[in-house]
Amino acid sequence: MKTKVVNYPDLIKARDRSASKTTFSHAKIAHFDQMLKIAKGKKYYIHTYGCQANVRDEETMRGMLESVGYVQSDIPDEASVIIINTCAVRENAEDKVYGEIGNLKRLRKQNKNLVLAICGCMVEQPEILEILQKRFPEVNLYFGTHEIDQLIDLVYEVINNDFRLISIESKKGEVIENNSVSRNNNYKAYVNIIYGCDKFCTYCIVPYTRGKERSRKFNDIMDEVRELKKQNYQEITFLGQNVNAYGKDLDEGHDFADVLEEAAKMGIPRIRFTTSHPWDFSSKMIEVIAKYDNIMKCIHLPVQSGSDEVLRLMGRRYNREKYLSLVKEMREKIPGLSLSTDIIVGFPNETEEQFNDTLSLVDIVKYESAFTFIYSPRRGTPAAKIPDNVSYADKSRRFKELVKHLEVNIEKDALTYVGGVYKVLVDGESKTDKNMLSGYTESNKLVHFKGDSSLVGKIVKVKINESHTYSLLGELVNE
Ligand code: SAH
Ligand code: SF4
Ligand code: F3S
Repeated sequence: MKTKVVNYPDLIKARDRSASKTTFSHAKIAHFDQMLKIAKGKKYYIHTYGCQANVRDEETMRGMLESVGYVQSDIPDEASVIIINTCAVRENAEDKVYGEIGNLKRLRKQNKNLVLAICGCMVEQPEILEILQKRFPEVNLYFGTHEIDQLIDLVYEVINNDFRLISIESKKGEVIENNSVSRNNNYKAYVNIIYGCDKFCTYCIVPYTRGKERSRKFNDIMDEVRELKKQNYQEITFLGQNVNAYGKDLDEGHDFADVLEEAAKMGIPRIRFTTSHPWDFSSKMIEVIAKYDNIMKCIHLPVQSGSDEVLRLMGRRYNREKYLSLVKEMREKIPGLSLSTDIIVGFPNETEEQFNDTLSLVDIVKYESAFTFIYSPRRGTPAAKIPDNVSYADKSRRFKELVKHLEVNIEKDALTYVGGVYKVLVDGESKTDKNMLSGYTESNKLVHFKGDSSLVGKIVKVKINESHTYSLLGELVNE
């Protein structure tokens, strides 16, 4: 089979931030009518890896596929379109994708008309795209994070031609509105506010895979929030690789604090956001979070390391002292604040002393939850070129030690909930016990309790009786 390349990814272009202002356009599907006939009675299967940005992209792809008549399926064998939406942030995320495609490629032999597509962050890296093409000649569509809005036309082209299609453009300062969406959930929603990342932390591939920072227009965001409120959504989460950068690329005069405040006034019961880079977290944001009851007092504030030297090498633009003084300001101004973080252990040449700085920072901040990672070199990033003298055994040992330190505080914090009554947004059956429901407190603690499934999607009061490291056990309080 021949390959048609519309655009091929290029890391040099992906790194370029010289593009002028963000431009806006509306999604259009050229072959909409033809696809209505083709998709009728057919199914699609999507599997998404990675962060909330990818989950939200999946919702857009589902919305588009459903708009022409495809129906979702959890069984790849019965699907006419299979999409694997990938993540590139660490090697283990990529390994899982290789495994899954290895299992799915047989389906193309059984069904010549099957569209087998790979999209998301992995294919934005030229060298990975080469590997994928060599290992999986069965895959007949590759598209990037900037081509989501073109999905239907790409599928149409693959179905009507005998070639493999690659459409991955590395540079675009564009925001596309009006895409369809089929949300995963009818009471909790993700709302994109800014795409891309311009921070270029030296270890991170995301600025290359997601491109330049592009904010959505303030009114487009507010229209989406208003619509969600009308549909009785209980919780929205504003999404961006760095939400604090919102508006800096526009001339609208609105910043992220304005987005939070305007949304809070609309009265959605729970407003969350992720992620905030510590570097440009403004005092104005802190004040708005403190002021509105429906903005959750939860801040995800990735620290990555507690060592000044490692932070400098990571290109994080703050040091330990600045981070700690930001935490202090937040804790003073936002009573009941719950802080979470991301931490990387084993950055190239990290010394035992530098690692101990991370442990001591963790002990000072007292996070209520944390995501911890062992450093994974990403080809094309500056850190990947640094020769590393730390063995993997040392990195794993440090990782375990860090988790132990974090858990001491997480457990202590969980214990403070026992005896109290908390508002819980009910998600559904507990994953571990079918007779129990589960949901999250405002501070994002997982709670299990007995209750009727009619409570799903509602905010209820739960009295906490027992605490575990990563969850609480309680009982419904009848009002
Ligand atoms: N934009 C978000 C994070 C996106 S990636 C932010 O800056 O907070 C999520 C987390 O993955 C990062 O916070 C970091 O801790 C981790 N990460 C990113 N690149 C990594 C790498 N090369 N190796 C290990 N962990 C990494
Ligand atoms: Fe990656 Fe840093 Fe951007 Fe987060 S802020 S996505 S860690 S480059
Ligand atoms: Fe992964 Fe891409 Fe998100 S690399 S973490 S899916 S932005």
